[in-house]
Amino acid sequence: MMPSNSILLLMNNEETLRYFREQLLIDGGYAVTAESDPEAALALFKQNQFDVVLTSSDIPGFEGPKILRELKAVDPYCVILLYGETLNYELLEDSSGLGIYDFVTKPINSEKLFFLVRKGIELHTLQVSHSRHVAILKEQNTSLQKQNILLAKRIEDSARNLARLYEDLRVVYMRTIRVLAHAIDARDHYTHDHSENVAKYAVAIARQMNMTVKEIEIIRDASELHDLGKIGIEDTILMKPAGLTPEEWQLVKLHPQMGAQILEPLTFLTDVIELVRQHHEHFDGSGYPSGRRGEDIVMGARIIHLADAFEAMTSPRSYRKVPLSKAEAIAEIMRNTNTQFDPRVVEAFMQIVNTL
Ligand SMILES: [Fe+2]
Ligand SMILES: [Fe+2]
Repeated sequence: MMPSNSILLLMNNEETLRYFREQLLIDGGYAVTAESDPEAALALFKQNQFDVVLTSSDIPGFEGPKILRELKAVDPYCVILLYGETLNYELLEDSSGLGIYDFVTKPINSEKLFFLVRKGIELHTLQVSHSRHVAILKEQNTSLQKQNILLAKRIEDSARNLARLYEDLRVVYMRTIRVLAHAIDARDHYTHDHSENVAKYAVAIARQMNMTVKEIEIIRDASELHDLGKIGIEDTILMKPAGLTPEEWQLVKLHPQMGAQILEPLTFLTDVIELVRQHHEHFDGSGYPSGRRGEDIVMGARIIHLADAFEAMTSPRSYRKVPLSKAEAIAEIMRNTNTQFDPRVVEAFMQIVNTL
C-alpha cells in the first residue's frame, strides 16, 4: 500500500501534469503519483489508497463526469479536485452530485492549492476512519443481535422446560391424589370406583351443557377428589349398615371442608378445591357445609352433586345393598329438581342419562 496522505494526479497534458507534480511533491512534500493514461490511473487507484485525486475533465474518452463516477465507484470517500483552464460551469452546477470537492483553475495559487490538498487529505482521513468505525459498530451490532437471539432462544427454552417440569409435577401430584382418593373409595367395597363413576357422569353432563374444555377438566379432577375428606372419617361410621346417629352425621358432613383443607396447599387446584368444598350444597340452600343456594353454588359443584347422587343411588351401599334401578333413580332426581338439584343440570342430565 502507498503511504497515506498521497495524491493521484491524472491529466492528459504532460506539461500540466509535470507542473502539478513538482508543485505538490517538491514544494508541498506530498506523496504524488502522476498518470496521463486514465485506464492505468484507475488500475492504480483500485490497488492503492489515495486521499486526493487531482484530475482534469477534458481527458479523451473520460470527458466530464465519467472519470469522476469511475473514481467514486472505487472509493466513495475520495476527495476530487477538478482542474480546468477555466471553470467548467456545467460540472460546477452538479459538483456535489458528482462528488467534486473543489475546482482548481488558472492562474494557479500555490497557497490555495496546498490548502485544498491539506483539507482534502484531512477530510478523506476522517471519512475513512469514520466509515471504519461505522463498519465495526455494525459488526458489533450484528454480533450483539445474534447474541440477543441466542439469549432469547435460551430463555424461551428454559421457560418451556420450566413449564414442562411444572406440568409434570402437576400430573404427578394429581396422580398421587387420585391414588389417595381411590384408596378412600376402596375402603368401603360398596363405593369402589365411586369417584371414577361420578367423574364420568359429571363430564357427560358438563359436555351436554357446552362447558369449556378447561371447565370440564376442572370438573373431572374435582369429581375424582370430591370425597377425599372422608379420609378423616372412621371406617365404622363410613361402613355402617344402619342409620347414623346425629353426631356421626355431623362428622360425615365435615368431609367437603376437610377435602378442601387437604388440597388447599396445592395452589394449582384452586378451582378444583372450590368444587370439592361445594359438592353437597343444594340448589335451595338446604345443603352443607355453607347452605349456599342457586347461582351462588359454582356450576361445576351443582353438576358433581347430581352425578354423585345418581351414582350413589344406582350403586350398592352399606345401608342399601340393592341399588335403585336407573328409572327409579331418575324419578328420584326429578322429584328433587329445584330443591336439591339445579333444573338446568337436571335437563342436561335427562338428555344424556341413556348413554350412561
Ligand atoms: Fe361427598
Ligand atoms: Fe360422593
